[in-house]
Amino acid sequence: MNKKTHFISTSIVKEINNSDNVSILELDQEEIISLFKANGILLFRGFDVDVDIFKEFTNLLSIDFINYAGGAFSRRVINGDETLLSVNDFKSEIKLHGEMYYQKNIPLMLWFFCANPPLEDGETTVCDGRQFFNEISSSTKELFSKKKLKFNVRISQEDWQKKYQTDDLNQLEEMCRKNNTHLTVNEDQSILLEYISPAIIPSRCGKYKVFINSLLPTKQLNPKILNFEDDSEIPEEVVSEMNEIAEKITTEISWQKGDILMIDNTRILHGRRSFADDQKDIYIRLCSPAFSF
Ligand SMILES: [Fe+2]
Repeated sequence: MNKKTHFISTSIVKEINNSDNVSILELDQEEIISLFKANGILLFRGFDVDVDIFKEFTNLLSIDFINYAGGAFSRRVINGDETLLSVNDFKSEIKLHGEMYYQKNIPLMLWFFCANPPLEDGETTVCDGRQFFNEISSSTKELFSKKKLKFNVRISQEDWQKKYQTDDLNQLEEMCRKNNTHLTVNEDQSILLEYISPAIIPSRCGKYKVFINSLLPTKQLNPKILNFEDDSEIPEEVVSEMNEIAEKITTEISWQKGDILMIDNTRILHGRRSFADDQKDIYIRLCSPAFSF
């Protein structure tokens, strides 16, 4: 059976098409901002965009671009610019998540750019964390309100130096302190990191609750490092419930060359389907909006 027949949700993605054949740099920024605030996710399609125009366009609407120090995956720096990165370096599925929710300082906003689409599969998946919250059973909502998530990870010296892009323990301590992450340095210079994060957060306007976190990919790729803050295990049934909701409310985006995706990382979860070919080249920028939201 075609897996797509499972999707009953209408797309949450607001698409902005190049119907007037204009440069993406000439679009009305105020209109983009108001659509972004209302929808949390915009897809710009059909514009003539290369990587330089992508950077110029994103520079107009965003500030505080960050590199990926402390990030969970290996990403490739594009054209020597540390704020322009490839998505991660493997091809399997990544379940829905908020970006970098395993630390305190998250990028508030994400940009994706399709330099080259995959031959097939490899869709980016998205869903609205407000809708996700509404789908959760009341018993699980109660569980998440009582118990936060705890990430507990041991990293070898070689790996933390790569991940945090430094070999200086003082710099590492500083980064962990800023991220409310508890750091223990072992005798062999491996480290233990502990970070506590809520599974559900209030929306920026304060009116809604949003299920957004790193639970699903962590349980998929590295299950042992994630428990509740009291060290009790997150029950299998709860993880299954979250996976079922995720599939039910997912929207898939099939990439076209030059597509740009603008995402509110405080509200919209993203992930991707697996793919097999070597064509796919998607870039990401992590930042904050250059406007209040
Ligand atoms: Fe991600």
